[in-house]
Amino acid sequence: MNFDIYLCFALLLFVFLIKLPLSLTMTTNNKPTAIITGSSRGIGRGIAIQLSYTNKYKLCLLSRNINGLNETKKLCEEINGDAVVKCYQCNVADRTQLTNILQDIGANYGPLCVLINNSGVGDSGNALTADLDHWDKMLDVNLRAVTTATRICLPFLKQSALNNDNVSIINISSMAGTLRAIGPNKTMYSATKFGVVGFSESVFEDVKEFGIKVSCINPGFVDTKMVRDLKKAKTLRFNNMIKVSDIAKSVQYVLDCSKYCCPTQIFIRAQGNPIKSNL
Ligand SMILES: NC(=O)c1ccc[n+]([C@@H]2O[C@H](COP(=O)([O-])OP(=O)(O)OC[C@H]3O[C@@H](n4cnc5c(N)ncnc54)[C@H](OP(=O)(O)O)[C@@H]3O)[C@@H](O)[C@H]2O)c1
Repeated sequence: MNFDIYLCFALLLFVFLIKLPLSLTMTTNNKPTAIITGSSRGIGRGIAIQLSYTNKYKLCLLSRNINGLNETKKLCEEINGDAVVKCYQCNVADRTQLTNILQDIGANYGPLCVLINNSGVGDSGNALTADLDHWDKMLDVNLRAVTTATRICLPFLKQSALNNDNVSIINISSMAGTLRAIGPNKTMYSATKFGVVGFSESVFEDVKEFGIKVSCINPGFVDTKMVRDLKKAKTLRFNNMIKVSDIAKSVQYVLDCSKYCCPTQIFIRAQGNPIKSNL
């Protein structure tokens, strides 16, 4: 009798030890995929780092600067030895290139569960003097890429949602895309970010019945290269600005929400005053 119990125990232990490494590998490979555009630096890199701490997703990072992407990948791997990160050099303003990459990820590297549209360019200039080509480029990166990526990824995201995965589209808009803070020289920037908010709210209505969350995160000033490169950077107080990690945590919050709710818009404002001249 005792011998039988010992034998059973030994067999169970054997099966467990054999299966454990296999199941760990499978867990890693079967993790859902999250795409983050604009992850060569700034907020996109911060989001990749945040998602590496939780280790729930394989990450697909898109940007033009491959060195920046590789640096982000390295940071993710330092945080988490199990991180699975792929880098794609991509100009999101190039619709064909963006479409091909996203279709490849959706078809071959799924299940695709998270799309984070973060790529963006700032400093759009004044309506009286702005360069129209510059405005077109801004439209392409800040708005058209968001609509293209969403349209291309949605069939894959819907399939994942039908398979009961937790699925989200998260768009990084701006306070400049809301009624509260439209500053001078933000003319086209503001228009593109309003566009992102309007698009997100409408997409949410289109896909909510499938359980797909669509969220817009609207930050005020965040201390990144985008803001440091502004013409008015000298008038700003960087130590009073929102940190990249604050935005990354708000992304995590959306991903962690239960299937019963969707925070469709999150407003994140600097606690102190980031503008020197207003003090
Ligand atoms: N910083 C702020 O105060 C603030 C406030 C509100 C909202 N936001 C928004 O947050 C997002 C991230 O901005 P950030 O502050 O992190 O700025 P950032 O440091 O300048 O980073 C911008 C990212 O967008 C990518 N990008 C720009 N043009 C691209 C293109 N044509 N194709 C692919 N990727 C492109 C850049 O990568 P490559 O150059 O390698 O392509 C970079 O990774 C933007 O949508 C921005 O509008 C920022």
